[in-house]
Amino acid sequence: MAEYMLTVTTGDMLHAGTFDNLYVTLLGTEGQSNRTQLTGVGLVNQTEKVGMFSVTSAFTLGFLLLLQLEKDPFREFQDGEWFCSTVVVRTPEDDDVFFPCYKWLSRGELVLLRGGRATKAFEDYYPQLQDQRKKELVQQKLTYKWDEYAEGMAYVLSIKDPNSLPAEVRFSYSKARQFAYRIKFARDELLEKGVLHNLGRWESFEGMKNVSWFTKSTLSERVSQLWKNDAFFADQFLNGVNPYVIRRCSKLPSDFPVTDEMVKPFLTKGTSLTKEMENGNIFIVDYKIMEGLPTTVMDGKRVPLTPALCLLYVTPEKKLLPVAIQLGQRPSEDNPIFLPSDSEADWLLAKLHVRHVDTLHCLLVSHLHNTHLIAEVFAMATLRNLPTIHPLHKLLIPHHRSTLHVNTVARAVLYGPGRFFDDSSISAEGQLPLMRRALAHLTYASLCVPEDIAARGLESIPNFYYRDDALRMWNVINSFVKAVVAYYYPLDSEVSADSELQEWANEIFNYGFLGNVASGFPSSFQNVEELIKYITMLIFTTSARHTSVNMGQLDYLNWIPNGPLLLHLAPPTVKGNATMDEVLLTLPNKSFASVTMSLNWFLSEKYEDFVPLGQYPQRFTEPAVLRMIEDFQAELSTISGAIVKRNEELQLAYLYLNPKEIENSVTI
Ligand code: FE2
Repeated sequence: MAEYMLTVTTGDMLHAGTFDNLYVTLLGTEGQSNRTQLTGVGLVNQTEKVGMFSVTSAFTLGFLLLLQLEKDPFREFQDGEWFCSTVVVRTPEDDDVFFPCYKWLSRGELVLLRGGRATKAFEDYYPQLQDQRKKELVQQKLTYKWDEYAEGMAYVLSIKDPNSLPAEVRFSYSKARQFAYRIKFARDELLEKGVLHNLGRWESFEGMKNVSWFTKSTLSERVSQLWKNDAFFADQFLNGVNPYVIRRCSKLPSDFPVTDEMVKPFLTKGTSLTKEMENGNIFIVDYKIMEGLPTTVMDGKRVPLTPALCLLYVTPEKKLLPVAIQLGQRPSEDNPIFLPSDSEADWLLAKLHVRHVDTLHCLLVSHLHNTHLIAEVFAMATLRNLPTIHPLHKLLIPHHRSTLHVNTVARAVLYGPGRFFDDSSISAEGQLPLMRRALAHLTYASLCVPEDIAARGLESIPNFYYRDDALRMWNVINSFVKAVVAYYYPLDSEVSADSELQEWANEIFNYGFLGNVASGFPSSFQNVEELIKYITMLIFTTSARHTSVNMGQLDYLNWIPNGPLLLHLAPPTVKGNATMDEVLLTLPNKSFASVTMSLNWFLSEKYEDFVPLGQYPQRFTEPAVLRMIEDFQAELSTISGAIVKRNEELQLAYLYLNPKEIENSVTI
């Protein structure tokens, strides 16, 4: 008789326990154990329970290959799922074999767990393991099917109803509860205040401040005081929620005929626009990508969306300031170049239209497309192509947590006909062409921070805290990835021989980037170095990059004049006639503005199940890799301390790339 001692751990999240019957069977090279009931775990519905069990066999099982877990109904009692975290098996030879699970098991469900060291397909010696590995992926490909959302867009998960998602990719119970509560809370307040269905315009800026008691932050209050200020307006291109558009301007675009004469009063005495461009002190934001999109029709007319150009200057005092704004891409008599010396209302309206196009760009291109939709492609490819025992599955799966769920919800309530964004300036009709353009413009280099900063000529622009923090984050993620990948792939030949990895990259290339070679995304990996860079990009995109565009929405966009998603009036075509009343009439109506505020709050707040970057539920057993994770966490902590210290010196702190605030995956 051989005895195996099992330590079974239930998850620590809400409703992780179960009353159902649980069974375990061990499978080894010499046979299998008795099917044994785990009495005790299944009978107590509580979280974080650790149970010890004895599983016997008439003979020793040899090398342990698999552990089979089953969940059976307990009589007619209604029960939910069970979240099994891990099972550790002590063998009669006194070896501990670690089986990570981290899955929700439903009634009647059976799962086979792999234990021990992470392996690539060609490293599996036993035919049973090779067979199980293939079967796992066959099943995953049936569960997670690609769907062509629309021609020219990245593919998405085929499941449309969030309630039909497999348990392993669903929100936690606590998140689902908080999610529903926040929606109701925000809606109830707007209803009570009578603004939810009020299509009237704002009578004053003050009135906007009192829409909500809770959808505010310390910074959003400051934004409501600073929004007219030119330096604040410019600083947002560097340290706001969309630091992905600004670039150095060494030559003016031919359709943006700013002259020396126009900007001379705003440059240092004795210099010129040409000279300042040569010196690297002129920068530009250009929203050409938004040109010609069909906009929402209101009162029989299309609302405005101006594909603006804005020229910015770094003064000798290292202050970035706007010096010229053209709201349409084509210069003409009725599309004047606005200047800081124009009337207060003209200049403010010009800046308001820039904030409008920047906010839509931020939400739809930088945020939705370049993080959420791209992260979904990565998650799908991992679930479909990398079995749970693969080292890169173990590394990446925490970076895919909740992504499929949040994107499925977003498709159901935010984007497309009749959803929230249909009432913004870019209706559903305009969203598809914009998404197509976003994908067509997206390059591999633009998602790699050092290359992106260099390509945009932003290496030395002063006071660019996003750059400083993003480079730090890129480097620390890169060091960690380098260590882990080099551990599992000591030779380039192991990268090229890993058929699962190659298929993973190929699916991302074809379903995510539609096979576009010009995008620079690889369809395969030839060596370890290429793989390290790619995994670094993936982890940065799903964690830091997403947080940089997500977390500051409440701070920067909740003061609606600084983050409008809809404007009612077109910009002035002639200078000198605008009034401050026109600014108020241009702003979104009370209903849409207040719903936008609630949404910003809803998306920026932390949820109870927040997991910061660098937290990996234990899936690896190799001590060397566990040490690498510890080192990574220590380095993140050091960076966090340095950022907090730096922020203490700043008038406006840059908060969105502090590792403690960066979520490990796209979850909201
Ligand atoms: Fe997000």
